[in-house]
Amino acid sequence: MTTSAGVPVADNENSLSAGPRGPLLMEDYQLFERMAHFNRERVPERVVHAKGAGAYGQFEVTGDISRFTRAHLFSAIGNRCDLFLRFSHVAGEQGYADTVRDPRGFAIKFYTEEGNWDLVGNNTPVFFIRDPLKFQDFIHSQKRRPDTGLRDNTMQWDWWSLSPESLHQVTILFSDRGIPASYRNMNGYGSHTFSVWNDQGERYWVKWHLKTMQGIKTLRAEDAARIAGEDPDFHRRDLHAAIARGEFPRWQVQIQIMPEKDAETYGIHPFDLTKVWPHKDYPPQEVGILTLNRNPENFFAEVEQAAFEPGNLPPGLGVSPDKVLQARLLSYADTHRYRIGINYASLPVNQPHCPVHTYHRDGHMRFDGNSGGTVNYEPNSFSGPVQAPEYRAPPLKISGDADRYDHRQGNEDYQQAGDLFRLMNADQKAQLIGNIVGAMREVPRFIQIRQIGHFMKADPAYGKGVADGLGIDLGEVES
Ligand code: NDP
Ligand code: HEM
Repeated sequence: MTTSAGVPVADNENSLSAGPRGPLLMEDYQLFERMAHFNRERVPERVVHAKGAGAYGQFEVTGDISRFTRAHLFSAIGNRCDLFLRFSHVAGEQGYADTVRDPRGFAIKFYTEEGNWDLVGNNTPVFFIRDPLKFQDFIHSQKRRPDTGLRDNTMQWDWWSLSPESLHQVTILFSDRGIPASYRNMNGYGSHTFSVWNDQGERYWVKWHLKTMQGIKTLRAEDAARIAGEDPDFHRRDLHAAIARGEFPRWQVQIQIMPEKDAETYGIHPFDLTKVWPHKDYPPQEVGILTLNRNPENFFAEVEQAAFEPGNLPPGLGVSPDKVLQARLLSYADTHRYRIGINYASLPVNQPHCPVHTYHRDGHMRFDGNSGGTVNYEPNSFSGPVQAPEYRAPPLKISGDADRYDHRQGNEDYQQAGDLFRLMNADQKAQLIGNIVGAMREVPRFIQIRQIGHFMKADPAYGKGVADGLGIDLGEVES
């Protein structure tokens, strides 16, 4: 054993004191160092998605999309790359029980030869909002009350009922899939519309899907509540144990592809995060298999310090005008600089598996070689790294007056929530309605009535089911 300076430690059990019962001496540097380091062990937890679990694995290309994207990863069937995946739930803190009803994060860092590709998605194909200005209020409504420090169904349903664009995601959240049996038994989705582009400068809009090859399995609310008491780390434990015993979970990665021009005429707003693209319009096609096969060795270093950014996109992969995605492009790097520090990208779990040549220098805790003596400005005459114009993305035509546009104009909120309700079997419908009724029972009546109005518009049977469960006369909803 040594001190941080590498000096051998002679005694790690007895502090330095004046006499056997005496006070301590200031010169016991080792004691102070240990106390000071301990006091700084915590970094801020993620403001959302604080509780999670992660693992390493591989992605292998099995379907050819090389005509749509120039990304080297997708240039040939059989190409592989390493990856790190972190699952999470959203609203609870670090110690929260795993089996709560909440969307699950599904964040993947693909370490490709052309840099990291981070697909920072959820286990749902849509989200609660379509304008990012609403994100902070939405999250406040899902977390703890300012007065009591308690989570509160009234806040949740008040916000949802006043933000009907959330209805599709709320329907998924309260369906049987709202509490997965394990991380291994759920799908993942990029959720946003992203883009891909090829060597000919053609752009396509895409949606990414990861379908679990273990099969969808869910927990009923009563079992989830019991497990939350028995083992709050149920999902984290399950993932680690499965990988440790060689049962490697796999997902089939699929893509929906829309030619750039279609976006102008497609009936569904293609950049609205509250909407899916129905499979019959854009059939998902297989592009690869993702396997998790290695547990982290140090939870803090690898899982807590993992930093995902939706803007990490190697050439051939791109973003879209989706407003929520646009905001996320700034938010994640900003939070990492605050949560982990400016040099977060050089930490082993975040480090690309390809050479990195930037002109970034210095900053807190610069723990790598800081690019040594190489030139630190550009342009320069000393062989510093230079731009590579061959990686330029095709231009995107943009027009319109700068304004704050009402995101509800021209976007309806009910059709796809209703479609989902209608595809459920009788047991799934009963679970959905039972879960909602359970969560809304204590909510003030005027909020119940407002929200039932939304369920009615999605599907009358949906609205009636919830109204009956809460003992509300539909006449009150319509009046
Ligand atoms: P499809 O019948 O072609 O697709 C239905 C999709 O719904 C399947 O991917 C299925 O996943 C999924 N699904 C089934 N039950 C549930 C549930 N309880 N919660 C969440 N997803 C579920 O129909 P459409 O493409 O027309 O979509 C109809 C509705 O399905 C949408 O409004 C949307 O709510 C939901 N959905 C659509 C997706 C899409 O990309 N089009 C993706 C996921 C959901 P699986 O095959 O794994 O069972
Ligand atoms: C985590 C912001 C929407 C998926 C986070 C974090 C922030 C954030 C600040 C914490 C990151 C960290 O500390 O490491 C936002 C904002 C959003 C938004 C501002 C919208 C305006 C979404 C959406 C999805 C999503 C739509 C999924 C489709 C995730 C995931 C994580 C996360 C999976 C956890 C990543 C990890 O495992 O480290 N988000 N988010 N977020 N977010 Fe978002």
